[in-house]
Amino acid sequence: MPKEGDRGLSERERLGLANKPLLAWYHGNARELPWRENPQPYRVWISEIMLQQTRIEAVKPYFDRFMREIPGVAELAEVEDDRLMKLWEGLGYYNRARNLKKAAQQIVLDYRGEMPLCYRELVKLPGVGSYTAGAIASIAFGEAVPAVDGNVLRVVSRILASREDILKQPTRRRIEALLAETMPKQDAGSFNQGIMELGETICLPKGKPRCEECPLAKLCLAFHEELTDVIPVKSPPPKRRCEKRTVCILEYQGQIGLRKRKGTGLLASLYELPNAEGHLLPGQLAAAFGLASEDILACEPLPTAKHIFSHVEWHMVGYRVCLAKGMPKEYIRAEKEELKATYPLPNAFARYTKLIK
Ligand code: ADE
Repeated sequence: MPKEGDRGLSERERLGLANKPLLAWYHGNARELPWRENPQPYRVWISEIMLQQTRIEAVKPYFDRFMREIPGVAELAEVEDDRLMKLWEGLGYYNRARNLKKAAQQIVLDYRGEMPLCYRELVKLPGVGSYTAGAIASIAFGEAVPAVDGNVLRVVSRILASREDILKQPTRRRIEALLAETMPKQDAGSFNQGIMELGETICLPKGKPRCEECPLAKLCLAFHEELTDVIPVKSPPPKRRCEKRTVCILEYQGQIGLRKRKGTGLLASLYELPNAEGHLLPGQLAAAFGLASEDILACEPLPTAKHIFSHVEWHMVGYRVCLAKGMPKEYIRAEKEELKATYPLPNAFARYTKLIK
C-alpha cells in the first residue's frame, strides 16, 4: 500500500484523499464573510466578481454598499452607468462592472430575471468564465463543479508537486478536469471555498506557506520533497509598457475641470483629471490643455505619482493650474464638494484628487 508521502499514488488518488481533511478543516476554520451569511446566487456572483484581482478585506465594504444600492438582478440591469462606476470606484478593472450590468440585462431577457441555476447556463453570461460559473454553481446551488482560481492552482500543484506553469491555459484545464473527477459530490461549495481559503491563509505564495498548520501536509508532495519554494511554477508576466503623463488640477473659483474618457479602451467612460502625454514643463501646459497662456493665473508643480494597470504603467507629473478667466467649455465643471459624491474617478488619479481641498 503506497503511503501518502510516496509518489506511488496516482494524481486522482492523491487529490481524492484531500477531500475529507479539507472539508473538516474548512468547517472548523471558515472565515465569516458577508456573502457567506446568505449565499444566494446574486450575492455569490457579485462577491466572486469583486474578489477577482482584489483582496478580501478591500472587497467587504464595496460588497455591502453594492448590496444596499443594487440589491438584485432587476436593479442591476437598469442601473445608470455612472452610478455603477461610482460604486466600483477604486476596485479597478472596471470592465468587471460593465459586464455585470450586461449579464443582468441578459438574465432579464433570457431567464425572466432569475439567475440561471447551473454551470452550463451561467458560463454563457458576459464576464462569467469557468471560475465564476463554478463558484456560483457550487456555492449557491451545490453543483459539484470545480472553481479554479490562482489559489486553487497553487494548492493543487503543490499537492501533486506539478511543475506545469500555472499561468498556462492547458494547466488550468487539466486541474479543472482532475478536480471535477475527484471533488466530493456533496458540499461542493464548501470544498471549493475550502481550497481557496487554504490558499489564502495557509498555502501562501512566495516561499511563505505555513505547512505546519496545513490539514493536507501529510499528502502534499511539494511539502515532503521540500519543493514549496519552486512550486507553483509561474512564467514571468509580460513586461508592462511605461507611459509618461502630465496631470492637471484645473481650478477656477472653487470648480475643478474634469473630462469624460472615451467609451473604449483603458478606463473607458470614466471621468478623469485632464492629462496629456509626456512629462510637460509649465510653459507647455497651455497648449496641451487648450488654454491661452494668459488664461493661467498661477501654476504649482505637484508631486510625481505612479499607477500600475495590468499592461501599462503611468509615470505622472502634476500641476495645479489656477485659471484667470474661467473654465474652458470643453471641461466638465465640478464643484469641489460634489466631486467625490458624483464623478467616478479612477484610482490612477488618487495622488492628485487627494490634493483637491
Ligand atoms: N476567494 C474568492 N472567492 C472566495 C470564496 N468564495 N471563498 C474564499 N476565498 C475566496
